[in-house]
Amino acid sequence: MTARLAALDRLDACLPLLPAADENASELHGRARTLSDRLETANLAVHEAIRAEIRSGARPDMLLHWAHALMDRNSARPSGVHHYDSLDELVTGVLGFDEPEDSGIRPEPEKVLYQPTPARLIFNLLEETRLTANDVLVDLGSGMGHVPLLAAICTPAHCIGIEVEQAYIDRARQCAQRLHLRRAHFIRQDARDADCKAGTVFYLYTPFSGSILRRVLDRLRHEASTRTFRVCTYGPCAETVAREPWLKAEQEPQAQRITVFATRAASSTRQSSA
Ligand SMILES: C[S@@+](CC[C@H](N)C(=O)[O-])C[C@H]1O[C@@H](n2cnc3c(N)ncnc32)[C@H](O)[C@@H]1O
Repeated sequence: MTARLAALDRLDACLPLLPAADENASELHGRARTLSDRLETANLAVHEAIRAEIRSGARPDMLLHWAHALMDRNSARPSGVHHYDSLDELVTGVLGFDEPEDSGIRPEPEKVLYQPTPARLIFNLLEETRLTANDVLVDLGSGMGHVPLLAAICTPAHCIGIEVEQAYIDRARQCAQRLHLRRAHFIRQDARDADCKAGTVFYLYTPFSGSILRRVLDRLRHEASTRTFRVCTYGPCAETVAREPWLKAEQEPQAQRITVFATRAASSTRQSSA
């Protein structure tokens, strides 16, 4: 598949450059288009085979195989900070999502517009957190649900997405239903009102800022006065979360990476919030 994607990348780059008016070029254009269509059809067959494996409830070996192959291939290439790559194409294809569309949702102060976590970082998150059947992953501001969906496919954890926009919740639920994912649940709710009692790992890809983030962190801090859990971040919110005295980063917080924070002992949390 990696060679096929490399060929598709090259064809995509060359096709617009061939002058359609030139007779020789137009024959070449036709052959290139036919080849590109055949490669795309082969990709769709791989996506369907992976979906069938997921629906069967078996370990997602095929998905993990291709994900690691693509991560190896992509890691050798120069990259931008929040870039998407062929692994995102694979994940989007398997989940059956189109590119994020304009759903008419408009920006509001402190509310960050939808953008999915790049797929390689979701795999990083799963590797760092090593979720077990006792874990409940809660994505606060889950968009179309890439993180809870992939976590439910690749780990035995229960996975919850909290998202304020109904259109995204509908897409995530449809996907979970199509793939028979019984451990992925999506709740249409403002994260400020979310029930934090079940979560053992909370994930925030900078979904909001300012007073909304403050309110959510205060609720999590209150929860941390009774028990331990982890908070994972991606994007600029890592900086704010790193200043919370009741959390300790497991590694140096970085906006471009997944940062995992663990709650400090419940007793020190009670003191810091007193
Ligand atoms: C940057 S996207 C992250 C999406 C998803 N977590 C991911 O990583 O793929 C932020 C999401 O948070 C949602 N959001 C913003 N404010 C919210 C709030 N107060 N409660 C719940 N969701 C919210 C947005 O609608 C958007 O879908």
